[in-house]
Amino acid sequence: MNKLVFKSEAALNEVAAGIIAGLLQTKPDAVLGLATGGTPVGIYKELVRLYAEGKVSFRKASAFNLDEYVGLPPDHPESYRSYMQKHLYDHIDMPPENRHIPDGNAPDPEAESRRYDELLERVGRIDLQLLGIGHNGHIGFNEPGPALIGATHVARLSDKTRQANSRYFPSLSDVPEKAITMGVGTILKARRILLVAKGADKAEIIRKALYGPITTEVPASLLQTHPGLTVLLTEDAAG
Ligand code: F6R
Repeated sequence: MNKLVFKSEAALNEVAAGIIAGLLQTKPDAVLGLATGGTPVGIYKELVRLYAEGKVSFRKASAFNLDEYVGLPPDHPESYRSYMQKHLYDHIDMPPENRHIPDGNAPDPEAESRRYDELLERVGRIDLQLLGIGHNGHIGFNEPGPALIGATHVARLSDKTRQANSRYFPSLSDVPEKAITMGVGTILKARRILLVAKGADKAEIIRKALYGPITTEVPASLLQTHPGLTVLLTEDAAG
């Protein structure tokens, strides 16, 4: 594991965006695995800046998002598709047909999960998977429990996750109860993983995930087994 600790979020964002841009410079048709939530917002902003300055192009790249809420139409302001448009895709040159996000509004979410994995397999491996971490150790929407699922699947969000995400919705009852998420197997197949955590509220779970036992009760602890893991932390998240 390669771990880097930063004095400021701005410095972390710059390095994270630099790692992604560096990959695209050496491999323009790289396959990116992307995350949503609060953590990557500043990283995407930095990537948009690098693109605007002509330092990176996404023209040949493709991307797969980790997850999407079940039951939200794609144009719902809190869908992850809307998030990606707002923070990244509206500002860069990645062709729309190369941007993949599970369709949370698909009539059969289980079939949609299978379609997503098949698509991923056709494209090949994810070169770089960007990950945030939930306070309970979830990655994607793989929540703690006695067992984890390898493939993309429909997951029920834990109360803790729904509460954390209710900050984006009018009320807790508006937060969807399910999501389509890449499974831990799909995530661990990525050639390289960039795990990012910011803020003192993530310090305890980061300690458990990186240095505690590998357990399905802390899904992010499985990342300890990945040979290409880089962890980027702000000082307060490093504890
Ligand atoms: C988002 C995702 C989640 C978030 C996690 C942390 O696509 O898969 O696992 O990375 O919930 O969210 P933030 O960054 O809002 O703390």
